[in-house]
Amino acid sequence: MLVLGIETSCDDTSVALLEDGAVLANEVASQFKVHEAYGGVVPELAARAHLENLPWVLDNALEKAGKTLSQIDLIAVTAGPGLQIALLVGVAEAKGLALGLGKPLVAVNHLRAHLEAPFLAHPKLPTPTLALLVSGGHSSLVLVEVGRSIRELGRTRDDAAGECFDKVARALNLPGAGGPAIQNLAEGGDPKAFALPRPRVKGSPYDFSFSGLKTKCLRTLEDLGERIEDPKTRQDFAASFQAAVVESLSKRVLEALKHEDVEALTVTGGVAANGPLQARLEEIATSQGIPFFPTPRSLCTDNAAMIAAEGLRLFQAEGPDALEVQASAGIGFRHPRQGRALRAKP
Ligand code: KG4
Ligand code: ZN
Repeated sequence: MLVLGIETSCDDTSVALLEDGAVLANEVASQFKVHEAYGGVVPELAARAHLENLPWVLDNALEKAGKTLSQIDLIAVTAGPGLQIALLVGVAEAKGLALGLGKPLVAVNHLRAHLEAPFLAHPKLPTPTLALLVSGGHSSLVLVEVGRSIRELGRTRDDAAGECFDKVARALNLPGAGGPAIQNLAEGGDPKAFALPRPRVKGSPYDFSFSGLKTKCLRTLEDLGERIEDPKTRQDFAASFQAAVVESLSKRVLEALKHEDVEALTVTGGVAANGPLQARLEEIATSQGIPFFPTPRSLCTDNAAMIAAEGLRLFQAEGPDALEVQASAGIGFRHPRQGRALRAKP
């Protein structure tokens, strides 16, 4: 079965082709340059760039896979969560293709797709597995059980881990994407040079909090003033910040591995591309006698291969969606056709 995946939930336009579990193409057009000057993703500009990019990214994917549109059997598209106006572009494109080609359509939840990415990379990944899902918009600790039912054990109470990387990178005036820039700068730095907090959420051992760390980082940079221009100080600061995030995340993972009955550990989402985080999680898993299955970089950050994989899984389990299915920005882990989740009051 040849599955076309389309992803436009934020600032990456991606199209993938997946056939019998093999990724034939997974093309990504970054919009980094479009948003760089604004210090964050501008939804309207993101939507316009998706409109411009989708046709040629689709052509590239088909060419790379050596396939034509008429060979596609199923169309999977991200329908939430994400930026509503950006989601609409991918969903409209997917509906048009489904209608034009007379092929079934499946609407995919972006977070569920991040959770499916490690299963695409490691078809033998056993369940129940503990998944640390860390991206620019989300940080959660999730138990993926048999049949892919999920239980969210913990989540961030404020900022996402990736958001924190991006804000600290901006404060350091680092060019390019925040996470990779910090990781590069931190190499060889002293992770103990700066005392930075590792906040805990009282009474919730699996929940994260990053806003205290972010604020402390921004204050420390202010206090340092021009001294932050010193290359060694910059390196040490980046290393200390990265170590604080890695420790905050891995502490919760260790806690969960000790108390939950799991067969494996995985990490997914953009921040999962972080080398020191992967290394620490591997150590923790080994210490608990549990295998660790990292997600390859190309499937960590936003990509359409994971959308195609999750779409195929859903199609096989529940069949296609109606063409009326809508893009829905704030759905948490729910399926787009179930609409917005009602948040329970804490
Ligand atoms: O999953 P993703 O591509 O988009 C969302 O769904 O949010 O994640 C993007 C996030 C960004 O915050 C980026 O800085 C972070 O992933 N990221 C990293 C690394 N590569 C990407 N963070 C730390 N280290 C990295 N190597
Ligand atoms: Zn994502």
